[in-house]
Amino acid sequence: MSDFNTSRWKDSAFAQQYRDNADVYIVERQRLFEIMRSFYRFFILDDKPKNVIDLGCGDGIITAELLSVDSSISATLVDGSEDMLNRAKDRLNNFSNMTYIQASFQDMLKADLVNRQFDLAVSSQAIHHLNLNEKKQFYSLIHTCLHSGGYFLNIDVTIAPTSDLEQWYMKLWQEWMDDKLMATGNTDATFDDIIQRYKSLSDNRPDSLDDQLAILRETGFVNVDCFYKYGIFTVFGGRK
Ligand SMILES: C[S@@+](CC[C@H](N)C(=O)[O-])C[C@H]1O[C@@H](n2cnc3c(N)ncnc32)[C@H](O)[C@@H]1O
Repeated sequence: MSDFNTSRWKDSAFAQQYRDNADVYIVERQRLFEIMRSFYRFFILDDKPKNVIDLGCGDGIITAELLSVDSSISATLVDGSEDMLNRAKDRLNNFSNMTYIQASFQDMLKADLVNRQFDLAVSSQAIHHLNLNEKKQFYSLIHTCLHSGGYFLNIDVTIAPTSDLEQWYMKLWQEWMDDKLMATGNTDATFDDIIQRYKSLSDNRPDSLDDQLAILRETGFVNVDCFYKYGIFTVFGGRK
């Protein structure tokens, strides 16, 4: 099993760099959030209070985006990094129904750390750190943690089905970052080797969209689909 403790996310400087630059690194990040908010409004929001779990919550941005649509949400935020969870606590300190769990996904697979059920399980840019077998187990755990009729929405990077497409998707990604940096006048060299770093880091274990959609269906999810895609950046999920 892969190990969160050996991952770069244990390093607070690495986590800080992500927080500072995520709007450049992540293609169409604000649109991904917009799609998630629309999904929540369309499928989940009604007059009853909702329980949400945010897996790999980082600094809590995903929960904050959902709270902007429905401030009555009770959220459980899980992350392997204490530093990230502290940032999430800072961001969400005006909201009372927040539960924070410091645990890796691998810990969650080993022990019953979340003993309640949710209307929505959401994750952003985190599950690709698990290998395919772990993703399979994790999607099954998510299914178990949802109320019947509850939803799973995953915003994440995937690997292309062919190497030609993967090469183009990397180019698309570079073009996005170049445009974004040009628009802001940012000439920081931090961004020069992002793609090479993404590719070489053993923490990153993206799998194909097709494989993951198939696993979700096998796990028992219905209404499974990819809701948005831009190169390797995807939003997908389904309903229990
Ligand atoms: C790229 S950040 C995404 C944070 C946030 N969801 C966002 O969209 O900005 C990935 C997050 O996943 C967490 N993470 C990475 N691997 C993990 C694992 N195996 N178990 C739990 N959390 C993990 C990291 O600590 C980090 O906070």
